[in-house]
Parts: sequence; C-alpha cells; structure tokens
Amino acid sequence: EKGGYDHFMLKEIYEQPSAITDTYRGRMLVDEGIIRMAGVDDNIERIAKAKRILIVACGTSWHAGLVAEYIFEDLARIPVEVEYASEFRYRNPVIYENDVVIAISQSGETADTMAAIKLAKEKGAFVFGVCNVVGSSISRETHAGAYTHAGPEIGVASTKAFTTQITVLTLMALKLAKYRGTISDSDFRHHLQQLEAIPAKIAKVLETTNEHIKEIAFKYKDVSNCLYLGRGYNFPVALEGALKLKEISYIHAEGYPAAEMKHGPIALIDEQMPVVVIATKMGHYDKVVSNIQEIKSRKGKIIGIVTEGDTEVKELADYVIEVPDTIESLTPLLTTIPMQLLSYHIAVMLDKNVDQPRNLAKSVTVE
Ligand code: M6R
Repeated sequence: EKGGYDHFMLKEIYEQPSAITDTYRGRMLVDEGIIRMAGVDDNIERIAKAKRILIVACGTSWHAGLVAEYIFEDLARIPVEVEYASEFRYRNPVIYENDVVIAISQSGETADTMAAIKLAKEKGAFVFGVCNVVGSSISRETHAGAYTHAGPEIGVASTKAFTTQITVLTLMALKLAKYRGTISDSDFRHHLQQLEAIPAKIAKVLETTNEHIKEIAFKYKDVSNCLYLGRGYNFPVALEGALKLKEISYIHAEGYPAAEMKHGPIALIDEQMPVVVIATKMGHYDKVVSNIQEIKSRKGKIIGIVTEGDTEVKELADYVIEVPDTIESLTPLLTTIPMQLLSYHIAVMLDKNVDQPRNLAKSVTVE
C-alpha cells in the first residue's frame, strides 16, 4: 500500500509530479490557451466581479491560501484576505453579499472551516470549495468548487495536498485574470507553459536533492530550534516548512518573512541556530541575500534554497539546495519540496512516527 516507500509521507512527496499533472489535466489546454474549470465557468460573473475574495482554511491549507493571496492579487487584481477559519467564525466578521469566500480543505471535514462556510453563506456570500476528498462535507456545503485530485493523502503531514491546492488556485487566478483582462494573452500562455513544466521540475528536485538533504538532516537533527525565512511568494512556504518540521520531528520551528527578522527573531540567532532561507533568483533576491549576510555575521547556520546555478548564496551558506528556474508565482511548487524532504528525513532519523505524529489527527473534526 505504501508502494515500496517506508512511509506514506514519503510516497506522497514523491507522488507530487503525477498529482499536479492530475490536478491540471483536462483543465489546462496549453496549446489552445484555455483553462476550463466547471465550478468557475458556471459562476464566472459572480466570481470575477467579486469586490473581494476571503480565503478561509486551517493549517497547511491556510498556507496554500496565503500563496493564493499573492497569485490572485498579482494576476487577477482582486483584493484578497486570508483568515484562519477558527478566528473568522468567532469574530463577527464583515462579509458582503458580493464577497467570494474560498474555503480550502484537503479532507473537506475540518470543523472550523465548515463553520466559517456556514457563516459566510448566512451572510449571503458565494462560497467556493477547494477540497481533495470527493464528496466530503465541505465539498457538499459550498456553492461550487474545484477538486485538487491529489489522490488519497494518508500521512498526517500534508504534502501533495498543499502543492495541488496551489495548482488549483493558480489555475483559478489565471482564469479570472484572463476574464478580467488583467493579464496579457502572451503572459497567460507563458504561465500555462511554465505550469505544465512544473511536474518534471519537481521530479528533478526529488531526484537530485534527496541524498544531499539526508546529509543536511543528519547534521541538524539534534537542534532544538530552527528558523525558516522567505519573502513574497515564498513567505508562506517558509511558514509551511516550519510547520512540517514541528509536526513530525517535534523540533521547534518558526517561519518568518525574511525582512521581519530585524524586528525580533534576529535576537535568536547564534551558532546553534539553523536558518532555512528560500533565496530563489526571483522576487527580491538581493534583499534576501542581505538577510543571509545578517544571519552569517551572527554566526547562524544557513541552509539556502536557491535557483540552479546560484553562486552568491552558495558562498555565504553552509548548505545550498538547488531547484530549477521557473516564473516567480510558481516557485512555491518547487521550493516546498526540499522542505518536505528535510523534515521527513529528520523525523525518520529521530525515530518519530512520521505518518501519525503524536497528538495529531488527519482531519480535525472537532473545534
Ligand atoms: O483537511 P484540511 O486541509 O482542512 O486540514 C487542515 C489542517 O488540519 C491540516 O492542514 C494540518 O495542518 C496538517 N496536518 C498539516 O500538515
């Protein structure tokens, strides 16, 4: 059942190239320059004219929502707010009838996300679901939706659900951008081509970095803290990297936007502190390099996730992990992979229960 892998989590990490292909298959017609998504097509006026999109989710799905915030605002120019479902539902939130609420949930059973949906519906908003489990409660409660088609995710630590959620939300943002006229035809096509190239690039990351990541895992497995930094599209990926490490290895980890370091967390940096920094060539690269210099001068240990061929970060970092080049909005799909592997290998080396970490359940159906 684990298909020859030691754990479901590892199997699911390695399934990502095919899972993402399944997510866009039939929806993205690259040659024709078309995206078809029934749930969006049937409600295109309602969604594309939204004054605002509210995204509600928990955990890793909330991180996918944060990535989507960058994509929707960048491409479709619709303002987005991303909320923890648990906070949203109890806050007496302002919800307008012309708001569109996107609920993201792998299981489709998360109690807080479900309650947020019910509240949004009561207030007259249109609710769109992004779920993995077909026929799940959330997929039935929403007005429309799009499945991620990632296949069953058994490991409690979410991996392929995250990258396929980002894929679905990217398709949706592109579709809305085209409809709203906020993206040029050539840029639209370029995005489709780049998205189509992602599965092979993930396969390459898996193939070329796994052994190296094991060495890094061995080196840092006994630390008690770890920081994760990223900017822009990769800030939510830093949060997700930290969550993965906490969840399965029980090592304390925090994710931050790199520029926030100097507002507090930099005080934590000493020679014991590993810092995973996402420093791909796109998106404020120079600023991230100067953040890396700040860590280095305080003797922090740097693990850089960089674009293939990078030389600048390589000189400063203790380790670098290379990912192929892509357009900025799609970098999260690549930079996430080494973080999943790093937390996986650390947890295995520490002899933790990778697929069923203590105190956690796959779907949180109580609040
Ligand atoms: O099924 P959902 O996507 O609604 O679940 C949300 C969170 O409980 C989930 O992502 C959790 O944070 C994962 N264990 C993270 O790996």
